[in-house]
Amino acid sequence: MKTEILEINDESLALAAKIIREEGVVAFPTETVYGLGGLATSDKAVRAIYDAKGRPADNPLIVHVHPDYDISSLVETEYPYAEELRKKFVPGPLTLVYKSKGKVSPLVSAGLDSLAVRVPSSEGAQKFLRAVNCPIAAPSANVSKHISPVTAMHVYEDMKGKIPLILDGGRCSGGIESTVVDVTTPTPLILRSGLITYDMIKSVAGGCEYAKHKEGDKIKSPGVKYKHYSPNCKTAFFARERASDAVEEYERARREGFDPVVVCDDAVGRTLGVRYIGLGKTSEEYASNVYYALHLAEAQADYVIGIGVEGDSQVDVGVMNRLSKACNKEE
Ligand code: TXA
Ligand code: MG
Repeated sequence: MKTEILEINDESLALAAKIIREEGVVAFPTETVYGLGGLATSDKAVRAIYDAKGRPADNPLIVHVHPDYDISSLVETEYPYAEELRKKFVPGPLTLVYKSKGKVSPLVSAGLDSLAVRVPSSEGAQKFLRAVNCPIAAPSANVSKHISPVTAMHVYEDMKGKIPLILDGGRCSGGIESTVVDVTTPTPLILRSGLITYDMIKSVAGGCEYAKHKEGDKIKSPGVKYKHYSPNCKTAFFARERASDAVEEYERARREGFDPVVVCDDAVGRTLGVRYIGLGKTSEEYASNVYYALHLAEAQADYVIGIGVEGDSQVDVGVMNRLSKACNKEE
């Protein structure tokens, strides 16, 4: 199959809508990362998404809709605090997990009785979702476990020959996937960290908890148990206070014939005296740059050494989660 990359305009949107209607798969940009979209009501389309990604079938997908789509046709929106969260943060990088009304393919929720719904804020995503005007199941548009894509070329590297169309909306600004919050309980539960933080949710909903996975628990968000976001090469991860160990590892690797690169924040990078890719100076910059930097690192080096970022903002929780999972193959 030939994979086309097209800028977003009336023509490419019409083509995207046709592919979706025919139960095919289209990659599209959002403000977080690129998504791999298919008709959420079609078993065939959802199967095609899982196939293209090589994703385990027990890891559910998020359904994406445009801002005027009536989500009460898909889910039970029971708790009033969920309405407050939507008023404040939707459209945006927040995915809410509701009790499902069973209106989409059962493959979307991978056997759970809940359904994750997101309304992206980026113009490209909204144009696409309006053009199709139906719920679109979409995971990040990378091969399972690889680094999430934040440009159309990143998608192309993973998806060429597997999907017919990538809508190109430029580089994603947010840079990490949406915050996933379970709103089926009296207090919202963060299943995956992102740019909408614990404090932001708590200030609107009155309370908030991080999901804790204890041994033997039924995992609420199966996606978090997998190794994720990884470059296709050797990796290592060091906490920020162990930056000198990272330098030692870098030098040891060079002696062994590797061509390593460090991924870290700018402030640490400047002190290392080794080749590094800087994530920037603020938490928002770290988030925006983390996948982009990992893609660069993978292209430039054969060994990626991550160093943890500051960690004093809640956005850093989301960044650290991605960076440590990307660089720590043992996890
Ligand atoms: O920003 C994003 O969320 C991107 C863009 C494309 O919208 N999408 C994305 O999808 O990151 P994906 O499939 O890579 O991650 C979805 C996450 C996984 O951790 C999955 O386990 C969780 O959401 N999830 C989906 N449906 C769920 C459900 N019904 N209950 C609990 N967790 C769910
Ligand atoms: Mg993903």
